Amino acid sequence: MKRTKVVEILKSVDYGKEVIVKGWVRTHRDSKSVHFIALNDGSTIKNVQIVADTDKFDAELFKQITTGACLSVTGVLTESPAAGQSSEIQATAIEIYGTCPSDYPMQKKGQSFEYMRQYAHMRLRTNTFGAVMRIRHNMAIAIHKYFHEHGYFYFHTPLITASDCEGAGQMFQVTTKNLYDLKKDENGSIIYDDDFFGKQTSLTVSGQLEGELGATALGQIYTFGPTFRAENSNTPRHLAEFWMIEPEVCFIDMEDLMDLEEDFIKYCVKWALDNCKDDLEFLNKMIDKGLIERLQSVIKEDFVRLPYTKGIEILQEAVKNGKKFEFPCNWGDDLASEHERYLVEEYFKKPVIMTNYPKAIKAFYMKIDEKKPIFNGKEMEETVQGTDVLFPAIGEIIGGSVREESYDKLINEIKSRDIPMKDMWWYLDTRKFGSCPHGGFGLGFERLILFVTGMQNIRDVIPFPRTPKTADF
Ligand code: 4AD
Ligand code: MG
Repeated sequence: MKRTKVVEILKSVDYGKEVIVKGWVRTHRDSKSVHFIALNDGSTIKNVQIVADTDKFDAELFKQITTGACLSVTGVLTESPAAGQSSEIQATAIEIYGTCPSDYPMQKKGQSFEYMRQYAHMRLRTNTFGAVMRIRHNMAIAIHKYFHEHGYFYFHTPLITASDCEGAGQMFQVTTKNLYDLKKDENGSIIYDDDFFGKQTSLTVSGQLEGELGATALGQIYTFGPTFRAENSNTPRHLAEFWMIEPEVCFIDMEDLMDLEEDFIKYCVKWALDNCKDDLEFLNKMIDKGLIERLQSVIKEDFVRLPYTKGIEILQEAVKNGKKFEFPCNWGDDLASEHERYLVEEYFKKPVIMTNYPKAIKAFYMKIDEKKPIFNGKEMEETVQGTDVLFPAIGEIIGGSVREESYDKLINEIKSRDIPMKDMWWYLDTRKFGSCPHGGFGLGFERLILFVTGMQNIRDVIPFPRTPKTADF
């Protein structure tokens, strides 16, 4: 007989039927005549209750049924008298696949997330991580579904690359060179001719540049893959290895791009509400009491669309009225997380798409605005058509832009930023041969999962986090 998953058992009303369930013990308690075992197999947050009569089984067997042990249980599906569950299993046979000794690290309830990170290989078996991982899976499905239904092609961009898309110099090098015996030229620079790829290569910080090549052939594409950044920021929102979704679309302007960002993210959140009900209810109860309400409100309200210059005006007005920020917010400054959160959480109280940033604080590929903004009566520096989505509790969840399509303007940017031109020739060909208006964005997958689960730390929404000084498991 085949096993039935717990998720199916709990839906079934086939009382009297013989079933087999397999899974791990969550709890085991007994009264004189009967033992109750809560069994979970990962198919749902819910456990199935196994009822085993004390006199039908060996006392030694019961001793081995401890939290974390793995069992196969044969029994009869019965209507449960207990509140909150419809069916349970009256056990006829119990086989122990794997006992679980008392040094099982996930044994106690209510362990801290810091503690559990030390056992990332075992924490997956807890209720919270089960819920987070099932939601993570569902979000990946929603993303593919959204783009597939809207005519985008899933496009695979390389993980090993010779270019730094964001120009921030935060790349992990990839080499097969002997690091103890590096050949250098007369200026002391490392010679890469004899390295595996014959040039200096790194792990990608973004698939965008290659994504643009795909879009300018297929019209609209999206990437969904791992991304690597060697930024030494030990924050609850940064990983050194994270997953990014990057759609790239031809023939769109900034309005279209913002519509896409908003529609896409609402689709994902709605998908979670529609498909992850049990897990969300669990997280709402255990992690964040406002979670479901926050998710529901995000899909109902229009996101604010706010030019950077207007944003700075609001922030400076707040400072005038006594609001204290740690970092300055003068026109031209990159916004700190405290500024973003003030705008989203205190001022507008809903998601904000910020646009038209100063050119100097954004990447080289963003389309330059025709008009310079006026701030305090004065004309400011050039701005670009960036469109970052800022979310409550998260800050920046999406970074996007319309791309500079003019060959000459793009060359100017590359030169003025000292980006090595020889590495960029293939990218510049998109502007040389049949250039077109286009744009796209990058959604940080783990930041979306943070938002949807209400978890506080990005290390707890990816199975095996990579952060400075941590690459275990
Ligand atoms: O704003 P970013 O750097 O934009 C890009 O990489 C563009 N090439 C995207 C594009 O236009 N195709 O990164 C995009 C998003 C951020 O908004 C954030 O959600 C996430 O990626 N992100 C990170 N997530 C976790 N850890 C990090 N270290 C992250 N850095 C960026
Ligand atoms: Mg960004």
